[in-house]
Amino acid sequence: MVSRQAEVPLFIDAGLPTGSIRDDVMAGLSRSPRSLPPKLFYDEEGSRLFDAICELDEYYPTRTEIGIMRTRLDEIVEAVGAGALLVEYGSGSSVKTEILLERLDQLAGYVPIDISREHLLASASRIARRHPNLAIYPVAADYTTMIPGLADLTAKHRAVVYFPGSTIGNFQPSEAEAFLTRAAKLVGPGGGMLIGVDLRKDASVLEAAYDDALGVTAAFNLNILRHINREAGADFDLGAFRHRAVWNGEASRIEMHLVSRFDQEVRIGDAVIPLTSGESIVTEHSYKYTLPGFAEMATRAGFNTAQTWTDSGDLFSLHYLVARAGGAGKE
Ligand code: AVJ
Repeated sequence: MVSRQAEVPLFIDAGLPTGSIRDDVMAGLSRSPRSLPPKLFYDEEGSRLFDAICELDEYYPTRTEIGIMRTRLDEIVEAVGAGALLVEYGSGSSVKTEILLERLDQLAGYVPIDISREHLLASASRIARRHPNLAIYPVAADYTTMIPGLADLTAKHRAVVYFPGSTIGNFQPSEAEAFLTRAAKLVGPGGGMLIGVDLRKDASVLEAAYDDALGVTAAFNLNILRHINREAGADFDLGAFRHRAVWNGEASRIEMHLVSRFDQEVRIGDAVIPLTSGESIVTEHSYKYTLPGFAEMATRAGFNTAQTWTDSGDLFSLHYLVARAGGAGKE
């Protein structure tokens, strides 16, 4: 295992600054309503549970996005073009990327960025074995932060950011726009972004997708507490919380909560957080967009929409955006 993983050394190891986990957790829990940062879902177990979510009947986004990719692969490959440097934000197990890599045979390189180092290295070595001629630059980092060295690489090639899975939905809209603006700056004029965006739909479909019958999403949600216990020295009792997923139509988002089953106190290092019975901690917001709503945001962020693809049921969308000269605010 170790020798196989050594095939592709980390290009950049920014990791998760461990000191900041407790700070992030304390900041979120001190807010009203209390919250936890969703990036903390993705320890080894969380990444594994997320992969299991993607296989669930109720969780339509993954298979729908993959369906769009397979149906539109010719157009997608043409949009990305030859010679691009493909930079993937939150690459995880890179399953969708494989579909692209099989056809994008003239890439300048592939830069998977993921917060989970083991997951990243395992998929990078798998990809290296399947694509021996592809230059791979794995980056262990939080892709929302400034990654030293990344801009040097994207300056050398026409870069295309790949951001599938509607992970953009984790940001509140103003942050999503700021994030797209930074991506447009990173790739520069003529650079691109291939992004998957989940669409608004019936509340019942959405709520089932985030509260599946097998309880995998519930386990995924609760696992954030186990991760925090380990990394931030907390003493959360997983049995003392229940999973809740609810559609907030006004804000256009699914909300995942962990609801305290009774009055309790949680210790994090020296701090004590009191929770009342029924009080909830928000662990994730998953915003859903309309097609025009997303297009307008991309425009404000400095991108032109070159192509938009959807499935026949309009459940999910994939967009190829091209960064404009002049950047955000200019059309
Ligand atoms: C990876 C953030 C896109 O919001 O659908 C899946 C995460 N959370 N089930 C999503 C998730 C619960 C997922 N994203």
